[in-house]
Amino acid sequence: MLIKRPEYLGGVKPSDIISESVYENRRTFLKAAVAAGLVGSALPAGAAQAPAQADLKYTKNKAFGADLKPNRYEEVTSYNNYYEFGTDKSDPAQNSGKFKPQPWTVKVSGEAEVTGDFSYEDILKPHPLEERIYRMRCVEAWSMVIPWVGFPLGDLLKRFKPTSKAKYVAFTTVNRPSEMPGLRYPVLEWPYVEGLRIDEAMNPLAIMAVGVFGKTLPNQNGAPIRLVTPWKYGFKGIKSIVEIRFTEKQPPTSWNRSQAREYGFYANVNPEVDHPRWSQAREQVIGNGLFAARQPTLMFNGYADQVASLYAGMDLRKNY
Ligand code: MTE
Repeated sequence: MLIKRPEYLGGVKPSDIISESVYENRRTFLKAAVAAGLVGSALPAGAAQAPAQADLKYTKNKAFGADLKPNRYEEVTSYNNYYEFGTDKSDPAQNSGKFKPQPWTVKVSGEAEVTGDFSYEDILKPHPLEERIYRMRCVEAWSMVIPWVGFPLGDLLKRFKPTSKAKYVAFTTVNRPSEMPGLRYPVLEWPYVEGLRIDEAMNPLAIMAVGVFGKTLPNQNGAPIRLVTPWKYGFKGIKSIVEIRFTEKQPPTSWNRSQAREYGFYANVNPEVDHPRWSQAREQVIGNGLFAARQPTLMFNGYADQVASLYAGMDLRKNY
């Protein structure tokens, strides 16, 4: 995400945290390195220090992305947005080594018959894991293809028997300042929060991911459990979830709270609705090389057949 100086923060922005020129140089260098496919060798040792990822048992779901070519592991795990570990794309891999994704508990609350605290094992137990290869489009106009391992979010939510008042579902990221150095900086209001309308959450495309490339999620990708909604801009994919709350009212979301004019609640990928500061019509495909042409962005990121009906009759220019 690109930060415009949010007023309520008293003017803190990433380039204030490190000096402006260092910030810009690192950003430009890393972008060039990733685009040129050099990122693995361009990054310092941090990524290598991360704990080894465990193998997962899963089946490949050929109905989702069997025709897509995933990005390289180094690209998916070194070029991240996870502001709790810093605002540069390389920060999450470098600064998340101390983060402990196990043991893990998810609190379920709000408008549901079944609520309480569930361990990671409780959450996963009834859900067979599958690999799905999804196109992922970041609001910053770049994209990747990622082989996630996870299970349908709707299957999980149904277990809690949401009541008829449950119109939305809200998610919260863990807040652990001792393990997440980025929390020192008020670049967003912490903890990170996100939300979906309940019918969006129940759509079969929405998954809870616990792995990538057949192994458990690295910390920088949102270990141990995160949301993936491939028809929406990447920022909806909240990481390291510790709370799921069923609500009657639309819940706040971090980026909307920070800059409402730029980031809406829906955040559906839409090449026809520009971000106020840049076009969303095309995207840079990470890994295609610095000089590759940008490819056209697809409505709902190419998943219109599965999700367009969720928004029938809505003005998508207003509900961005
Ligand atoms: N979740 C939390 N808790 N904190 C974040 O800063 N960044 C979001 C999203 N989830 C973010 C987050 C943004 S802006 C994007 S693009 C995706 O995570 C990036 O996911 P990736 O690094 O696995 O590609």
